[in-house]
Amino acid sequence: MAAHHHEDTTSSIPSPIIMVMVPFTAQSHLNQALQLSFLISSYQIEVHYAASSKHNRQVKHRLTGGEDKSSDLLSKIHFHDLPIPHFLSPLPNPNSTTKFPAHLQPSFDATMHLRHPVGTLLRQLSTTTRRLIVIHDTLMFSVVQDVADIPNAESYSFRCVSAFSTCCMKSLYKGESIPPVEECSLTNEIKRLAADQAEFVKIKQGDILNTCRQMESSYLDLLDKNESNLNNKQWAIAPLINRVRNINSTGGGNECLLWLEKQPPKSVMYVSFGSSTSMTDEQIEAMAFGLKESKQRFLWVLRDADKGDIFTGEVRNLKLPNGFEESVKETGMVVRDWVPQMEILAHRSVGGFMSHCGWNSCLESLSLGVPIAAWPIHSDQPYNALFISEILKVGIEVREWADQSEVVSSFAIKRAVERLMDSEEGERIRKRAEEVGGLLRDAAEEGGVSQMEMDSFIAHITR
Ligand SMILES: *[C@@H]1O[C@H](CO)[C@@H](O)[C@H](O)[C@H]1NC(C)=O
Ligand SMILES: *[C@@H]1O[C@H](CO)[C@@H](O)[C@H](O)[C@H]1NC(C)=O
Ligand SMILES: *[C@@H]1O[C@H](CO)[C@@H](O)[C@H](O)[C@H]1NC(C)=O
Repeated sequence: MAAHHHEDTTSSIPSPIIMVMVPFTAQSHLNQALQLSFLISSYQIEVHYAASSKHNRQVKHRLTGGEDKSSDLLSKIHFHDLPIPHFLSPLPNPNSTTKFPAHLQPSFDATMHLRHPVGTLLRQLSTTTRRLIVIHDTLMFSVVQDVADIPNAESYSFRCVSAFSTCCMKSLYKGESIPPVEECSLTNEIKRLAADQAEFVKIKQGDILNTCRQMESSYLDLLDKNESNLNNKQWAIAPLINRVRNINSTGGGNECLLWLEKQPPKSVMYVSFGSSTSMTDEQIEAMAFGLKESKQRFLWVLRDADKGDIFTGEVRNLKLPNGFEESVKETGMVVRDWVPQMEILAHRSVGGFMSHCGWNSCLESLSLGVPIAAWPIHSDQPYNALFISEILKVGIEVREWADQSEVVSSFAIKRAVERLMDSEEGERIRKRAEEVGGLLRDAAEEGGVSQMEMDSFIAHITR
């Protein structure tokens, strides 16, 4: 990607405004907040990122692929390691019928104690600037509530899920195949945490959404209309990640990319379920046989869900059937480490993505024109899967959401892989995905709709 036009002016005038990012502490939220921070920093605005030391360390570690190389982008962000209470970091339970990562709740609960340290930081920074801009996750309203008492501070929420899924969750959009929110495999604890934010919603002056108006305009309009009483502004700025990340930057020498180099164009199904999915032993076995029997090439990231503290203690040993890796070594690769997903999806050998449909993964895949075999697990994912398969028509569903509690058979997995990678239908879907990819990348270019909304947000906060 071309360097962003605002980047790398070394001698900058002291910023008349300061921006503070307050992320929610699950990996996908942390990362999207960091990507937005980079983008805002590229406008020569001083950017602060406020989280616990563990979560700051996590987001930096994952960005650089675990190597402690300092990144030019990272060095521009002021990280604040704020204190939170000690929290337990249990292993995920793959056998639980609720697929939401309930084992992260202690980390989420500890995070909600950030109100006072964040308030102190905001008050300090507010004395050094004309205007303090606070951008916070939609789950962090209560943490930033003291913004209301700081005269030169303004807050904006950052929504890192799709407008479509938000409309579904708020029942603003009702389609026949839309699963009700109760069925999204959420825990009562996370529902309560989300509900606890409601009373502070009025502090925000607008919403930044990690989506693209060209892709979701009708759902953005629905949201805007629903909040018309708040007199909010709305900016849709996706895709974020393409604009600020040099896609050659972390991949060099990575074993996945070396392996992909040897595969034919668009021949490989990339299989990854993100950072919050824990599959049962039985499901892992079915996956192994399904991939093998499809006789298609695959790159499978076999990982357990993140723990609350990714740096400590044991992780579950994910077992494959005996001799599996040896038996597929001509066509398949299994990796257990964190991988440079953007670089993988950008690789010419990748022709499909079997995904849990976290919004971050969807955006990465879509903006690189890679069609999706959707296998949602929890939260907003079933809505994203519907959006991908039924509305954008850039993917297929591996199984019906109604069957979510059952193990997906190796046969169903094999069929889905064949359908996407080796059929006329798959070809059509791939073409359509490439079109959507072009549209999203254009949106982020100079003069594109997302770039213009970003410029408009910057003009608004620096007014
Ligand atoms: C990435 O690497 C390719 C091949 O080495 C090169 O052509 C391209 O310009 C690089 N892109 C960036 C953004 O550096
Ligand atoms: C999940 O259930 C399987 C089979 O019943 C069992 O072998 C496994 O130990 C369980 N895993 C955990 C983490 O409880
Ligand atoms: C917004 O949606 C909620 C339901 O989620 C509804 O109760 C409320 O009345 C709506 N507000 C407006 C202004 O449409």
